[in-house]
Order: sequence, then structure tokens, then C-alpha cells
Amino acid sequence: MTNYKIVVLPGDGIGQEVTTEAVKVLRAVGQGVGVGFEFEEALCGGAAIDAHGTPIPGATLDLCRTADAILFGAVGGPKWDDLPPEQRPERGLLALRKELDLFANLRPAKLFPMLVDASPLKRSVVEGTDLLVIRELTGGLYFGEPRGIEKIQGGMRGINSMIYTTPEIERVARLAFEVARKRRRKLTSVDKANVLAVSTLWRQVVMEVSQDYPDVTLEHMLVDNCAMQLILNPLQFDTLVTENTFGDILSDEAAVLAGSMGMLPSASLGGKTALYEPVHGTAPDIAGRDLANPIAAILSAAMLLRYSLDLPAEAERVETAVLRVLEKGYRTKDIHSEGTTLVGCRRMGELIVRDLETLYT
Ligand code: IPM
Ligand code: MG
Repeated sequence: MTNYKIVVLPGDGIGQEVTTEAVKVLRAVGQGVGVGFEFEEALCGGAAIDAHGTPIPGATLDLCRTADAILFGAVGGPKWDDLPPEQRPERGLLALRKELDLFANLRPAKLFPMLVDASPLKRSVVEGTDLLVIRELTGGLYFGEPRGIEKIQGGMRGINSMIYTTPEIERVARLAFEVARKRRRKLTSVDKANVLAVSTLWRQVVMEVSQDYPDVTLEHMLVDNCAMQLILNPLQFDTLVTENTFGDILSDEAAVLAGSMGMLPSASLGGKTALYEPVHGTAPDIAGRDLANPIAAILSAAMLLRYSLDLPAEAERVETAVLRVLEKGYRTKDIHSEGTTLVGCRRMGELIVRDLETLYT
């Protein structure tokens, strides 16, 4: 029997609750299809700061390197908010991305038909939204040097550097074209080429890579316009590719299109071991109260099955189970509306597992 080793990094806040449900779903898949899963939990984020004084202990990183895939929850919280950026829980996640060379972050925003009314946008605008943001994840402002705060005459100066090299742009562009090819074959590259030198290079390299993908329609869009177009006419988009900071911002905006942040999964690919995490954060206001939506984490587990374990049929089964539970009218608080049945995080997980089990019998 094939045996997969999955490292689980629940992190902080609702990260704990939602990864627990995602693990249950993977166990059910394992039983259904006859593969073994070995789950190893490790510390990351605020929990690791409290236990070891660092957001990403060496032991966690080592464990991650030996895994078939990583299932991540969320990190951060008010308890650690006063720490300097270099020591914050978020640093743990950034270090993981960099150390494991996870340069491409896939964030699909697909609006489930029964959740149209959970979106603050008009049905006529948002219905049918199905797009994918590919965010470059290991370069740009997040990692560029020089960085920091320094003293200058008359005050202080804060610095971050947006830097991209040709190979860094090329690899994420290539991956984006490959992904777009498997979707509706339209790729929008988002930049700020009317102002930034980095973006001029970005656009050039993306155009060069596009030569190898004549079957994919490429368009370029300035990031400010893209922010507007996403809510004006989301149906025009299929696959988007953009640098780290733009992708961070645009993917939160795209999350609104899917009804709730609680619905959005993500995959961070590139190196040998990929990482899967819900796009939402730790939601300290609802943490520990069984109120979180586990669907983003569960759909992240589906992405894990698809991209790391090459089990696309099982990924689809998980997605179908989620769809069917929503069709039956079950909703967590974030997507609840009149006439639907309000359930907690655990119950939502249970319902999805039970539905999944029926798909295997
Ligand atoms: C995200 C988050 C992270 C980021 C934070 C937690 C460091 O906002 O994954 O989008 O900025 O990349
Ligand atoms: Mg973000």
C-alpha cells in the first residue's frame, strides 16, 4: 500500500480547528481509495514562538523537507502583534515558502452557485466567477534587499526593495501558462509597467515565455485597473499571474467574489514538497469557538491530492462532497443566510466526511 507522509502545521487561531477537519477528510480518502496517510504535526507561528522562541523551529523545517506534502492552517494573532516584523509568527510562513522554494501560489476563486447571495456583489456581476490567481511567492518586496528601518539625518527611513530576476519571472510565467492551458486558455499578467522598472522586465519576460504557448491568449493589465476589473467584471478572467505583493492584495479581493474568505483554498508549488493552506487568517475573534468554516482547508486538502499526490479523481470526490453538503443547505456562520442550516466547524467537517464516504461505497 502506498503510504504518504503529510506534515500538518495547524499554527494559530482557527488554523487548529480547520486543519483538524481537513485531516479527517484525508483519512476518509485514504480509507476509500486504499492509500495510507501518516500525519505528523509540528509547531509553527505563534505557537512555536511560545514554545521555542522562534516562529519556525529547525525541527519543523527538517520535518517539512521529508514530507510528501504540507497541510498548513494559519499563523498570527494579537498576542504577537507587538513583535518586530522579523520575529512575528508570519515570518514562519515566509521562511517556509523561501526555504522550500515555493515560488508559485495558486489561489482559485470559484463561486459555488448556491453561495451567490453570500457575495456582497450583485448576482448579475458575480454569478459564474471561476478564476485563478497565480501569485509569485518568493520574490519581490517580501524578500528584496536592502530592507529595514534606519536612522537618517532628521528622522528615519524605511526601505523595502522590489526585485525580480529574469529566471524568477520566467519560472512562474511558465507555470502560469501550463496551468492556463489546462483551464480556459486565457492568461492575464498583472503589473505596473507604466511606472515600475521591475514591471517592465516582468512584462518583457512574460511576453518571451508566451512564444512557447501560442494556444494561450495572453493579455497584460495594470494592477490598479485589475483591482477595479475584478469587481466590475470578474467573468472576463480565467488565469492571472502576478508578482508577490500585487498577488497578496488581488487574491484577498478575489476571495470576496467567492462569497467568503472561508471558501478559498491555496497551493504553494515549486520545490519538492508543496504546501497547502486556506487563504484566510487565524480569525482570533472566533477562534476556539467552533465557528470557523473548514471548507477552505478541506479544499486545500483536495488541491494536495491533485498536485502533490497525483490523485485527481480523489480531489474531485472531495470537491463533490463539499458541493453536495452545501447543496443540502448546510452553512457555517460566514456563509449562512436565511433558509439554510447553520452548523459549526466540526459538524461541517463531519458532514463532508460522511458524504465523501458515500462516494466510496
Ligand atoms: C497571505 C498572507 C501572508 C502574506 C501573511 C500572513 C504573511 O497575507 O498568505 O496572503 O502576506 O503572504
Ligand atoms: Mg494575504
